Amino acid sequence: MMYSLTPVRIEIIDFYEDGENTRHYHFRLLEVTSTWLKAQSGQFFMLCVPGVGEAPFTFTALPDENGNFRALVRMMGGVTQALFEQKIGDVLGARGPFGQGWPVNELADKKVLIIGGGCGIAPLVSITEQLIEQGNFDQLAVVYATRSKNTLMLTPERDRWQHLIPIFNVVEDASDLEPLDYYQGTAVSILPKVLETFAELPERVLISGPELMMCAVIEYLVACGIDAHAIYLSLERRMHCAVGLCGHCYVKNQYVCTRGPTFSWTDARALLSPLE
Ligand SMILES: Cc1cc2nc3c(=O)[nH]c(=O)nc-3n(C[C@H](O)[C@H](O)[C@H](O)COP(=O)(O)OP(=O)(O)OC[C@H]3O[C@@H](n4cnc5c(N)ncnc54)[C@H](O)[C@@H]3O)c2cc1C
Ligand code: FES
Repeated sequence: MMYSLTPVRIEIIDFYEDGENTRHYHFRLLEVTSTWLKAQSGQFFMLCVPGVGEAPFTFTALPDENGNFRALVRMMGGVTQALFEQKIGDVLGARGPFGQGWPVNELADKKVLIIGGGCGIAPLVSITEQLIEQGNFDQLAVVYATRSKNTLMLTPERDRWQHLIPIFNVVEDASDLEPLDYYQGTAVSILPKVLETFAELPERVLISGPELMMCAVIEYLVACGIDAHAIYLSLERRMHCAVGLCGHCYVKNQYVCTRGPTFSWTDARALLSPLE
C-alpha cells in the first residue's frame, strides 16, 4: 500500500486545560479528504509542528465532514511543548489516519467493558461515544482510573456518560473528591464491583493505559474467566514514519504502527512478555 508522507494542514480551532499538563484540542483539517473521513476509533495521526517534529496522537473525536476533530494532548517533550506554545488559529500539519482501530464490528450486541488508565483513556473516548450514540451494545460500562484530583481529565465527557451508562471513576487518592462520584483505589481493585454490575461476564473488553496497569487488569479478568481473545488493548511505542518503513516501533516481529496500535490480548501478550 502506498502512503503519502506529506502532511495536510490543520488549524487549531480551540483548546481547554484538561488535567495536569494536558489539553483537549479541537483541530480542523484545511483539506478534508476521503481518507481522513474514513478514520476509525483507535487509529492515530502524526501531528507535525513545523521546525520541531512529529508525534503520534489518537483521535478523541474522529474527523467530521467539515474536518473537525479532537485530541487530548499531554505535554511530554519537544513536539507537545511546541504545540502548547501555539495559539488558536495557528496552522500545523497532520498525517494519517494510521494503524488498526478497535474491532467495532465485534462489539455489536455484546456486553462491553471499557477500561482507561490516566491519559490512556484518550483512545477509548470516541469508541465509547460511538457505542453510546448507536446504542449498539447489550451492556456497556466504563472504568476510568487515575492518580489524584489533579490528574483527572475528560470530566465533561465522563459527566455526560454518567447519565447514560455505569461509569466507575477510581482514584488512588480520592480524599478531595465527592465520594458519590469517585471510588478510592485502582483499576484492578475496582474490578470486583464492576463485574458485579454485569449480569454475565463482559464479552469484550477494551483497555488502554500504562502497560503494567493493563497487564494487571488483564491477569485479573482472565482469572475471572474472560477469554484472552475477547480482550483488546492499545499499545504505545515510539514512532517516526507511522507506515511500517523506519522500524522505530518494531517489537518482536511486529510493527506497532501498522499492525496496531490496537491488538487482541492473544497477539499482544507475546509483545509484552518481558512485563508478564
Ligand atoms: C499510537 C499512539 C497514540 C498516542 N496517543 C496519544 C494521545 O492521544 N495523547 C497523548 O498525550 N499522547 C499520546 N501518545 C504519546 C505521544 O505520542 C508521546 O508522548 C510523544 O512522544 C510526545 O512527543 P514529544 O516530542 O512532546 O515528547 P518526546 O520528546 O518524544 O518525549 C518526552 C518523554 O516521553 C518519553 N516517551 C515518548 N514517547 C513515549 C512512549 N510512547 N512511551 C513511553 N515513553 C515515551 C520519552 O522517552 C521522553 O522521556 C501516543 C503514542 C502512540 C504511539
Ligand atoms: S513508526 Fe516507522 S515502522 Fe512503525
